[in-house]
Amino acid sequence: MKKKKIFSGVQPSAIPTIGNYIGAMKHFVDLQDDYDCTYCIVNQHAITVPQDPKKLKQQTRSLAALYIALGLDPNKSTIFVQSEVPAHAQAAWIVQCNVGIGELERMTQYKDKSQKQESVSAGLLTYPPLMVADIVLYNADAVPVGEDQKQHLELTRDFVNRFNSRYGNGNQLLVLPEPLIPKEGARVMSLQTPTKKMSKSDKNIKEYISLLDEPKVIRKKIKSAVTDSSGVISYDPIEKPGVSNLLTIYSAFTNQSIPELVKQYDGVGYGQFKTDLGDAIVAVLEPIQEKYYALLDSDELDAILDEGAKKANLVANKTLHKMERAIGF
Ligand code: ADP
Ligand code: NA
Repeated sequence: MKKKKIFSGVQPSAIPTIGNYIGAMKHFVDLQDDYDCTYCIVNQHAITVPQDPKKLKQQTRSLAALYIALGLDPNKSTIFVQSEVPAHAQAAWIVQCNVGIGELERMTQYKDKSQKQESVSAGLLTYPPLMVADIVLYNADAVPVGEDQKQHLELTRDFVNRFNSRYGNGNQLLVLPEPLIPKEGARVMSLQTPTKKMSKSDKNIKEYISLLDEPKVIRKKIKSAVTDSSGVISYDPIEKPGVSNLLTIYSAFTNQSIPELVKQYDGVGYGQFKTDLGDAIVAVLEPIQEKYYALLDSDELDAILDEGAKKANLVANKTLHKMERAIGF
């Protein structure tokens, strides 16, 4: 049987956090055996808000090294940088011409991000059509993402249905993708403000743990994470958002279920719980960081990205040409 296809990406706007890892990147690794996977470093998405060119270049390479260090295997999956495949921008134009401004203005990510900017680029509004293009170009059946991307996936499905019915003459021109959102950890919260999602672009570095934070920094950030005064370790996201978030993180890093953890920590204080959690995160991230630093300046990384772009261009151009023929180019 032919393997189903997966596409996903992460923006090289900053070093990914454990939120990105738990919500998305951890699953990228696990999906490789059962699916035909394409993983992109979406640097074109990263220029929708003001960015520093030198940093963007550096973070693009850094994210590529991190992908491999996490366990993405170039022999199993296609790993590439978005701007090295021109079809993304070309297909995004076709998508833009087939979605309404109203649809884009309703996107909550656009509303959130545009409020934070002094001047809003047109690209911030048309970010979702580029994401739609990313997904459809690789005929993705499923897209592993965190919950914050659910609305963009719905737009993708609306576009695919619309494009197929407008231009397909009864044929399924583009593949209708499903979101693949984890049951737990789809929305990891900030460490100091556990009512907002953890984000790698947060100005307060105590709100998140980056995948490249040093072990002592990781332990310190967990130690100072906001909890509550009850002293009881139980899962209740409404009444106990801080502790519940730490349980979610603990569960993701050890593959122990939350009820199991709650039982294990019955009668144990927050201090011990946080020490153990810090250790659990370090145990996973330390070996990843070692691989990352070994890869970062290697020729091997360049070769992987060159090969990935070659493979991606072949698939993407084929779909782009199909879209172009359908609309009359
Ligand atoms: P960010 O929002 O941190 O800038 P991206 O937009 O690059 O991250 O998203 C990369 C992936 O990580 C997406 O699949 C997104 O849904 C997921 N993600 C982002 N933040 C979180 C979070 N706090 N919890 C779970 N998943 C998240
Ligand atoms: Na995001």
